[in-house]
Amino acid sequence: MNDIYAIIFDLDGVICTTDKYHYLAWKALADSLGLPFDEKVNGLLRGVSRMESLEIVLGEHSADYSQEQKTALAARKNEIYKSYLSAMTPGDLSKEVRSTLYTLRQRGYLLAIGSSSKNTRQILRQLGLGEFFDAVADGTMITRSKPDPEVFLLAASMLGVRPENAVVIEDAESGVRAAKAGRFRAIGIRTEGNDPNSDITIRHLKNLTEIL
Ligand code: BG6
Ligand code: MG
Repeated sequence: MNDIYAIIFDLDGVICTTDKYHYLAWKALADSLGLPFDEKVNGLLRGVSRMESLEIVLGEHSADYSQEQKTALAARKNEIYKSYLSAMTPGDLSKEVRSTLYTLRQRGYLLAIGSSSKNTRQILRQLGLGEFFDAVADGTMITRSKPDPEVFLLAASMLGVRPENAVVIEDAESGVRAAKAGRFRAIGIRTEGNDPNSDITIRHLKNLTEIL
């Protein structure tokens, strides 16, 4: 890829496997409410904010809950999710991800996180990446979550690069759409077959070192 100076990584499902904890926490909440929930519904939540995810989980039952009840349900899901996060250590950062990040940094790229998650800072700290990235844009700093490009535009501006000079790495369709809406180039990871919008799709994060 030409003229790329910066790489903006999604967090959940790209840097770490916290996507599986999101799944388990939503599943526990949905089960307690007697609502159906499976991997397919979970796929729709990737990249989407907590409250918007709750609306998808509630589906046609959304109108049965008041705003206060919804806030409480989202908080309950987050408590379950955080109980999984609390057990995470730097050992949960895969060797592959670690070495890919260090190789890309050595090659001179600016590296950032662009995540819808309000738990981003905690996750990075627990993985031992608290100080690693040149910029971190997350769910606490934005008003519109993916597929809106806000979080990626914020990351690019924090880095001082233009979208045309940055590539976004995403596992979510909403994230790839956000990247394209912001005029970034987009690499989809594990999105083969269901993401016609990404410029390139790769199977593993380490494949980045063959492209960048
Ligand atoms: C995204 C995840 O990174 O963050 C979504 O892909 C999640 O599944 C969203 O809903 C918000 O996360 P959090 O940690 O703020 O509830
Ligand atoms: Mg993701």
